[in-house]
Amino acid sequence: MDIAGNTVFIPGATSGIGLALALRLQQEGNTVIVGGRRTALLEQIVAEHPGLHAVQIDTTDPVSIQRAAAQVLADHPDVDVLVTMAGIMRVEDWTTSQFLSSAEETVTTNLLGPIRLIAAFVEHLRSRPAATIMTVSSGLAFAPLRITPSYNATKAAVHMLSESLRLQLAGTSVSVVELEPPSVRTALLPGQEESEFAMPLADFVDEVTELIRTQPDAREIQVENVKFLRYGEARGDYDHVVATLNHLDPHGN
Ligand SMILES: NC(=O)c1ccc[n+]([C@@H]2O[C@H](COP(=O)([O-])OP(=O)(O)OC[C@H]3O[C@@H](n4cnc5c(N)ncnc54)[C@H](OP(=O)(O)O)[C@@H]3O)[C@@H](O)[C@H]2O)c1
Repeated sequence: MDIAGNTVFIPGATSGIGLALALRLQQEGNTVIVGGRRTALLEQIVAEHPGLHAVQIDTTDPVSIQRAAAQVLADHPDVDVLVTMAGIMRVEDWTTSQFLSSAEETVTTNLLGPIRLIAAFVEHLRSRPAATIMTVSSGLAFAPLRITPSYNATKAAVHMLSESLRLQLAGTSVSVVELEPPSVRTALLPGQEESEFAMPLADFVDEVTELIRTQPDAREIQVENVKFLRYGEARGDYDHVVATLNHLDPHGN
């Protein structure tokens, strides 16, 4: 993916990584459409950032995805980058049956959401001379945080989906890029915006932008901080990675 000149749709950009990336990509010379459920935030974001576009979307709802996709394709027929950013993270205790609704909600948002979004856009993206599907996994796709089993599982699934999709789309105009954030200071989990273990959001987006600029053909966007989790198994220190991750985590006890 080139750093400039794209038309980018980011469902999941009313806050956090999605919003910060949207603003940075706009600065870099892209047309950007942000999406999310919170209409008041969408209106505020568009008012504060002239040139940015917004579409209301709930990625847990197939009808909402179809409606939003139709609107994006009608208003921006040159859209050539889809970033499946929307995600949730819930603390769960699987030692009781209380986790089930959280697990279902997490799978619907983090896994079915990207699948339905890709289904809504893939044929259009294939019609563009060059296009990108950017999926969003996590360092936790590669090493589990004890308190968030469903989240870890959905992100591992997004990783394997990205790998598989890349094989199917090989030889087409569509590239598949997987963004793998480490812990970043956002509102994803309560307390995470202040966490000393999480990376400042601006530093993360700076590093991501530089990686896209310098490695436009990369399959995975990996800032330095994620490599501890990402490559534990390959390095052979997976048990140490899992122990360290769960020992460091402030929600771990
Ligand atoms: N922060 C981290 O440490 C970290 C690490 C690894 C991966 N990630 C991933 O990065 C992505 C962004 O998370 P974040 O950290 O930036 O958290 P965030 O600030 O909570 O942002 C989540 C975004 O997803 C949107 N969203 C959630 N459910 C949605 C739904 N049903 N329909 C449409 N939009 C929905 C939210 O918008 P609305 O509420 O307005 O709908 C919001 O814009 C997620 O996929 C997350 O798993 C984050």
